[in-house]
Amino acid sequence: MVRPKVFVTQRIFPEALEWLKQEAEVEGGQAEAPLSKEEILKAVEDKDGLLTLLVNQIDREIIERAKRLKIIANCAVGYDNIDVDFCRQRGIFVTNTPGVLTEATADLTWALILAVARKIPQADLFTRAGRFRGWALDLFLGQEVYGQTLGIIGFGRIGQAVARRALGFSMKIFYYDLKRLSAEEERNLQATYLPLDELLKRSDIITIHTSLNPSTYHLINQERISLMKKTAILINVARGPIVDEAALASALKDGKIWGAGLDVYEREPEIENKLLSLENVVLLPHIGSATRTTRLQMAMTAVRNLLQGLSGQRPDNLVW
Ligand code: DGY
Repeated sequence: MVRPKVFVTQRIFPEALEWLKQEAEVEGGQAEAPLSKEEILKAVEDKDGLLTLLVNQIDREIIERAKRLKIIANCAVGYDNIDVDFCRQRGIFVTNTPGVLTEATADLTWALILAVARKIPQADLFTRAGRFRGWALDLFLGQEVYGQTLGIIGFGRIGQAVARRALGFSMKIFYYDLKRLSAEEERNLQATYLPLDELLKRSDIITIHTSLNPSTYHLINQERISLMKKTAILINVARGPIVDEAALASALKDGKIWGAGLDVYEREPEIENKLLSLENVVLLPHIGSATRTTRLQMAMTAVRNLLQGLSGQRPDNLVW
């Protein structure tokens, strides 16, 4: 029997690669850094399946070049890097890896909230630099988290997992989403729906968990930032372009909001220069789901989806 041909755009875990190799002719899977568009164009020509990472922009030109393509299995929950509409028109499956990364991403969100509110990275640097000369009443004064108001933008799996953790901090929880939960679901999470602008005005800590699509591009812009409290903290672990990074940098610099924690950027891996010199922002390199267990589950889920699609089955995590 002819085995399907698969291209893996970047390094994945050996366990996942081995599983794939049992069922398919595999190329790639070793690259340390994202491939160029030209390299991908060359590799996809004779492939039946692609395993991609979120750093690979899979556009119309690449999809058209891949004449035999049946499936693109993205190893991420987000799939804004793929022209899904065009794939759907051509009957090419596109899959993602939802569910397995929910808890790890919610944990990282909380790590960022606490790091910003309590100035953890700055305090760590200060201590390592030998500048700790003894307890002082006003050393590294941060913001309260316990009992404050949390505004969650995007109330899917990850947003709700963040809310569950917030209950342990006795927080008042507001959420905004295109889809409202049922009254029972809202009661269980003790979460109250608010229109976006209202949520921005009333929350102490605002955290973003929506997907990136044309309607969420720059959802948080200068005008919306100006609605936030001067003491507000903004967290983004979803996708960079949801926030106007230049507007955020100016607001942080001018003290229009108190702080921010970012795991994602508008033009990754580039970061708005102004942000790099600010003390009131904590910057992470897109590690929301980065525990070994979770990242391995993501890779295994992507392989499972890929093999399902290649065998003609409807994959578990089809996004269209
Ligand atoms: C995703 O899965 O979309 C995250 O950004 C990486 O885990």
